[in-house]
Amino acid sequence: MTKVEVPGKIILFGEHAVVYGRPAIAVPVQQVRCSVEISDLDDAPHGHIYLEAPDIHLFAWLHEINEAHPLHKITQLTLDELHITSFPALKLTIGSTIPIAAGLGSGAAVSVGVARALSTHLGAPLPLERQSALAFEVDKIHHGTPSGVDNSVVTYGQPLYFIRDRFAERFTIGAPFTLVIADTGHPSSTASAVSGVRSRWEADRSSFEAIFDTIGQITDQAKTAIERGEVDKLGTLMDHNQRLLEGIGVSSPDLERLIHTARQRGANGAKLSGAGMGGNMIALASPERAADVAHSLEQAGASRTIITEVRS
Ligand code: PMV
Repeated sequence: MTKVEVPGKIILFGEHAVVYGRPAIAVPVQQVRCSVEISDLDDAPHGHIYLEAPDIHLFAWLHEINEAHPLHKITQLTLDELHITSFPALKLTIGSTIPIAAGLGSGAAVSVGVARALSTHLGAPLPLERQSALAFEVDKIHHGTPSGVDNSVVTYGQPLYFIRDRFAERFTIGAPFTLVIADTGHPSSTASAVSGVRSRWEADRSSFEAIFDTIGQITDQAKTAIERGEVDKLGTLMDHNQRLLEGIGVSSPDLERLIHTARQRGANGAKLSGAGMGGNMIALASPERAADVAHSLEQAGASRTIITEVRS
């Protein structure tokens, strides 16, 4: 039996602008995870794969599932990459505590989990960069034009400074800091948020490019502050990033209510995280205030909160 676990993630700074070549910072969230378990099936024909994903009510043989289904796609991509055609029948069980369509990287974590577990079980574990690359291919189904930040951060399980098509660089967290993550309870489609931004960018390129430049500068300032352990600088940068995200039309009344609540309860800064239009927001809070901020966010309608410490 082979079992792997892959964390969720949040984007700290730079979402959307990252699609247009600006940097983003993303960190893993270990409190939510996708697990993939693989075992041999003695009573089924060679080369058959049975997929069990109770969270999405999927119980089927691989060949019965639509080829465009992300689970079919990642399984097939992994087998193709390994050039393995003969293997015993297998059962893959996929479970996840990462909420779907909420900006916490659930799709990418499942893909990385399958690629990692399957290649390991078949005796040829894929290098991390290949796991990430295969998950990126699958993310194209969810996202259309993904930047690659999601698959990178869940694969490496480390804080990353990321620039599309250039690099995903691990960096030092000078001093740990605490975030409260709160879910609006409204799933949102990354593909439609990203395509909405694209239409607005097409209608007014110069304004959007200027906003993306500013988001990129905020992200770079945040990276320096994080490396130096200057946590007190991050809240203002988060607030500024949030205003710019509102400007490109990806915030929502639910997100803004939670962001406002967090600030009122003493969070040092707050913003949406990921594609926006729903999904999750994040608030920077001192370790002493975090539980109170989380409680207030639940009272203000958050369907779930997570307190997480960001560290190297
Ligand atoms: O909702 P998420 O976490 O999958 O966010 C996607 C982040 C975007 O920058 C909006 C898109 C991308 O591909 O980077």
